[in-house]
Amino acid sequence: MNAMIAALVRNKGSVFLTFLCVVLVASFLFFFYDTPGTRIGAEQPIPFSHRIHAGVKDIQCEYCHPYVSYSRHPGLPPVEKCLHCHQYIIANHFWIRKEHRYFDTRTPTPWKKANYLSMHVLFNHQRHIQKEIACRQCHGQVETFDRIRGKTFYMEFCITCHREKNANVDCWLACHS
Ligand code: HEC
Ligand code: HEC
Ligand code: HEC
Ligand code: HEC
Repeated sequence: MNAMIAALVRNKGSVFLTFLCVVLVASFLFFFYDTPGTRIGAEQPIPFSHRIHAGVKDIQCEYCHPYVSYSRHPGLPPVEKCLHCHQYIIANHFWIRKEHRYFDTRTPTPWKKANYLSMHVLFNHQRHIQKEIACRQCHGQVETFDRIRGKTFYMEFCITCHREKNANVDCWLACHS
């Protein structure tokens, strides 16, 4: 033990440098490294593309997220809805066959969630959609994304727009439970 301490003291220069490097690398990763999930979006069980569906084919958001203007949860489309079209369109495509397997086994497609809010935040789409706030104000140009990038909504983001639009900024009454 004493010998070890003595060795450390003798080499304090290099010990310090090593320590410094570790701290620098760790903080670099902490501040600048994005997980692939936030950079390009999480890999989904089926590589569903909003760019193709909502962009190129111009399918309305509400067709697949029908509850967006009257419920807290916009809803993700059930397998049946995909198959309405894909029974006919590229029916033998590899990924469509996977959709059929989900359908046949009555397994909901295990989509990975991309957007997060803390549990204690009250958010509902309805009030916003009724005020004609476009999906893109909060979600970006979804119709150009192949994958939806992960996003955490921070309070600053909500408050900035609420100030601009004179919406409620009373924290406890409006947004926090
Ligand atoms: C309103 C019709 C419609 C619905 C609903 C629909 N799709 Fe599609 N989908 C299309 C069309 C059109 C294409 C383009 C086909 C082509 O490339 O010729 C396509 C292409 C695809 C492709 C192939 C993309 C590629 O890379 O080639 C996949 C995978 C796919 N859809 C999955 C889904 C899933 C999963 C759902 C349900 C969440 C869904 N689709 C719902 C019309 C639809
Ligand atoms: C053909 C069906 C379809 C259409 C049209 C569609 N979506 Fe989606 N959407 C999905 C599916 C399936 C998922 C889940 C897989 C994923 O995240 O890519 C999803 C996921 C999302 C998510 C991420 C949800 C989360 O937090 O995990 C957002 C945001 C979203 N859609 C917004 C939109 C907007 C905005 C439009 C219109 C511009 C739109 N969608 C049009 C099928 C659709
Ligand atoms: C004022 C900002 C805002 C607008 C405008 C908005 N969203 Fe969202 N959206 C959010 C937030 C915040 C979440 C995450 C909510 C959560 O996790 O409870 C979310 C989540 C979602 C989800 C995932 C739901 C789930 O169950 O996981 C979908 C799908 C979605 N939005 C679609 C849409 C569509 C389509 C529109 C336009 C018609 C839209 N959003 C407009 C803020 C917004
Ligand atoms: C782009 C602008 C915009 C953004 C971003 C936005 N909001 Fe709003 N929000 C509004 C407007 C405008 C209203 C007022 C709607 C009304 O008067 O019916 C509103 C209303 C609300 C209400 C209802 C308040 C009440 O009076 O009861 C809640 C809760 C809320 N927003 C939460 C959020 C949260 C949480 C976020 C962030 C995730 C957010 N909003 C982001 C514009 C926005």
